[in-house]
Parts: sequence; structure tokens; C-alpha cells
Amino acid sequence: MAPSFGEMEPAEAESVYFNEYPPPKALPKHEALARAFVELHVEDKRRVVLVTSGGTTVPLETQTVRFIDNFSAGTRGATSAEYFLEQGYAVIFLHRQYSLLPYSRHYSHSTNCFLDFMDEAPPTDASADSDHGRIVVRSEYQDAMRDVLRKYRYAKQHNRLLLLPFTTVAEYMFELRSLAKIMQPIGANALFYLAAAVSDFFIPRSRMAEHKIQSSELPAHFQKDNSVGAEEIYTGENEEKPANSKKLVINLDPVPKFLHRLVDGWAPEGSMVVSFKLETDPSLLVYKAQTALQRYSHHLVIGNLLSTRKWEVVFISPDQPERWIRVPKSRRSKSISGVEDQVGLAEAMKGEKGPDTQTD
Ligand code: PMT
Repeated sequence: MAPSFGEMEPAEAESVYFNEYPPPKALPKHEALARAFVELHVEDKRRVVLVTSGGTTVPLETQTVRFIDNFSAGTRGATSAEYFLEQGYAVIFLHRQYSLLPYSRHYSHSTNCFLDFMDEAPPTDASADSDHGRIVVRSEYQDAMRDVLRKYRYAKQHNRLLLLPFTTVAEYMFELRSLAKIMQPIGANALFYLAAAVSDFFIPRSRMAEHKIQSSELPAHFQKDNSVGAEEIYTGENEEKPANSKKLVINLDPVPKFLHRLVDGWAPEGSMVVSFKLETDPSLLVYKAQTALQRYSHHLVIGNLLSTRKWEVVFISPDQPERWIRVPKSRRSKSISGVEDQVGLAEAMKGEKGPDTQTD
């Protein structure tokens, strides 16, 4: 039996994984954009951060109808990108297509519909009898929206923000590898801030169904096995898969961990690598984050729990095995439409010693 990725050396896992998939169609275009972006900022000696954001998908079929998704709205990545921009960084924002983006995130969440920020202007003399009155931002949102708009415009006009989308875990891996290599000339001015929620399990291409998996009976001459990614048909609980079962059995392999390769090979010498660790069981979080730091020997792991991720994070670094940053209830800020977001935490992470910021 072929060895699993976990049993391979990182370099071998890299070559096997990347040879199995064709590169994403958009990769050459993204690479060209990234090269131009990097060149520009190297010339200006500006710090450049690659922020990854959103969840990756694992398709169940080559012609994909169904897929497994990873949780992430993109709030952490999009918010952090804004703070990096404010600190003078140029940002490559590698994000899940249609997840939240820096700046527009303030108005695009489903509970934060941009139409709620707008109104028809009172008719002027010229438009008194017309149905074509001007649309304006409601007066109570003017200041906040002007502020966001100016920052957005500044980032765009000064070429500080490059938006590159991905969808599947394979696309994410190809993009991450290429971008890290393209960032080589940035050297110690490069930062990798990996907030994306990357799939841990996937179906290798060689075992993936080509067409949509069928849920209803087909005449015998059409029938194919419905066990996705299965080498042997059904291995659950010592049961045989009953003939004509409508169960869908999914057999997933572990995704190779490429953080090793990023730290030791792809990323520029002297650059900084920050990864995130998401858990739901509080008793596991610090252990898992510390283990990740030891395993990959990078600079910082930021741990967070699904239920409290907007209010507290734990920093695990070689110097500080456990440092919590918490935003107290009184400072859990609201976005301009009144929906709570994580600006408070970003402020706390930036300021660290604000009067309301608790660390322990
Ligand atoms: O977007 P939000 O809704 O605001 O949510 C933000 C978040 C909770 C998703 C974010 O704060 C977060 O915790 N992201 C990381 C989620 C996670 O635990 O990812 P992971 O276990 O799949 O990966 C851990 C790290 O290893 C990641 O930084 C990833 O880049 C890296 N990794 C993972 C898998 C893999 N095959 N190779 C990798 O290099």
C-alpha cells in the first residue's frame, strides 16, 4: 500500500501532493499580479504581509456538486488586514472566494446589508416631481462610512492591497506555495499571517468520483459504487456495506501539513510566520497550539476557541508559552450598524496595554 502523507518526509509529501493536481487555472494570473506587487513594494522597502483568510473546501466530485467546507467567515483575516494596512504594510489577501474582504466587510455581512445604510435624498427643486432622486448614505452612518471609504481608497490608489481568491484546499496549497516563493525578494520584511481554516482531510484526486454522486437507484447498467474515496468499500464498525445501501461512505486522507515546507523552504529567509489554531474544547487549545509551535519551529501561534474567538486569543511563542489577550465586555465594540465585531480584539492586540485590556 502506498505510504500516507503523514509517513513521508515533507519534501516528498510536497512533490507527491503537487504532482497529483493540475495547478489552478487562475494561478499564472495571480502569480503575475503578485510579482508586480512584490516588485513595487521591495523597491519602496515596505513590509509585506500575506494574510490567508476563510475556509478551504474539499470537493467530493471532480465535476463538483458537493463539497466539505471548513468554518470561517473571513472576519479575522479581513479585520487583521485592515490593521496591517494601517501599520504601513502592503497586504496580499489570499482569501476564500466570497468571504469577507477588508473594508467592504463593514457593509457586506448578511446582518449588515449595505442597503440599510442608504436612503433617498429629499427631493431638490430640480427633482421634485421625479422618481430619480439621488441615493445617499443615511446621516447617522456618514462619519463611519467616510472613514472606511477613505482608508479603502487609500489602499487601492497606493497599491497596498492585492486580493487573490481560492476555493478548494488544493487551490489554497498551490497559491500559498507560489506566493511564498514570489515573496523571496522581500526577505525579513515579509510576514505570513495564516488565519485561513485549512481542511485537515481530503479525497486524493486518484480516488475521487468524476461525476455527481447519485442518491437514487439507477438501472443496473448505469450503477457505480457510491463510496467516495473508498479503496475498500465499507470499513465502518466491522459492517459489510449492505447491497443497494443508500448510505454515502466517505473515506478521507489527512492533508499534508505544509507549514514545515513554508517555514524551511518556501518563505524568505528571516521572514516571520504566524499561524492560528482553532479548537472547540478549551482543555486542548494551549496544548495543540504549543505542539504546533514545536513541530513547525515558526514564530507565533495564535490560539482561539470557536465560541470566544472574537473576545479572546492566546499567543504562544518561543519566549512566552502562554499569553492571553482578552477584550472585556465593556469594550466589545459594535460595528457601525450595531453588530458586534472583533475590532475590540484587534485594538487590544495592537495596544496590548490599554486600560481595559486584560492579559494573563
Ligand atoms: O474567519 P472567522 O470567522 O473570523 O474565524 C477565524 C478563525 C477561527 C478561522 C481563525 O482565527 C483561525 O483560527 N484560523 C485557523 C484555523 C485552524 O485551526 O486551522 P488549521 O488547524 O486547519 O491549521 C492550522 C495552521 O496550519 C493554519 O495556520 C494553516 O495555514 C496551517 N496548515 C493547515 C493545514 C495544512 N495542510 N497545512 C498548513 O500549513
